[in-house]
Amino acid sequence: MKKIIIQITALFLLLLIPVLFFTGCYNDSKEYLYPELTGGCDTTNVTFIGSVLPITDANCKSCHSGSSPSAGLNIENYTQIKALADDGRLVNVINATGGYPLMPQGAALPDCSIKTIEIWVAAGAPNN
Ligand code: HEC
Repeated sequence: MKKIIIQITALFLLLLIPVLFFTGCYNDSKEYLYPELTGGCDTTNVTFIGSVLPITDANCKSCHSGSSPSAGLNIENYTQIKALADDGRLVNVINATGGYPLMPQGAALPDCSIKTIEIWVAAGAPNN
């Protein structure tokens, strides 16, 4: 009787090994779970309020706001950001092109943020 129990237990463990092995191979890929971390960039519905303003609020406002902003430029609301979009400086500074300094200073925005701003500017920088 004892022998049978040992045999059944051994069989059970043997069957368990491949199950554990294959569940270990379950592919919870980083790309699938966190597309924004790995280059996946959702630009299907770019808007000023939903897409662009959060980027400038988080990355530009610290220097470009208040009564003495860097370069005398406030980057806080639609009117101010629209003006920079229309004169080309917004896209130029985030890419450090056209002889403009890279913004934010020192470290470029993530590719997805650059792409998002470019899409919005190319659409005419609408107030949406
Ligand atoms: C750490 C502070 C800081 C941050 C953050 C920052 N800027 Fe600036 N920005 C400056 C300074 C200082 C200048 C002026 C010095 C210069 O021209 O290099 C400037 C200049 C500019 C200019 C004028 C460029 C020109 O030559 O006409 C624009 C446009 C600009 N920034 C846009 C942005 C945008 C857009 C962001 C966010 C994506 C941003 N900045 C983030 C400090 C900052």
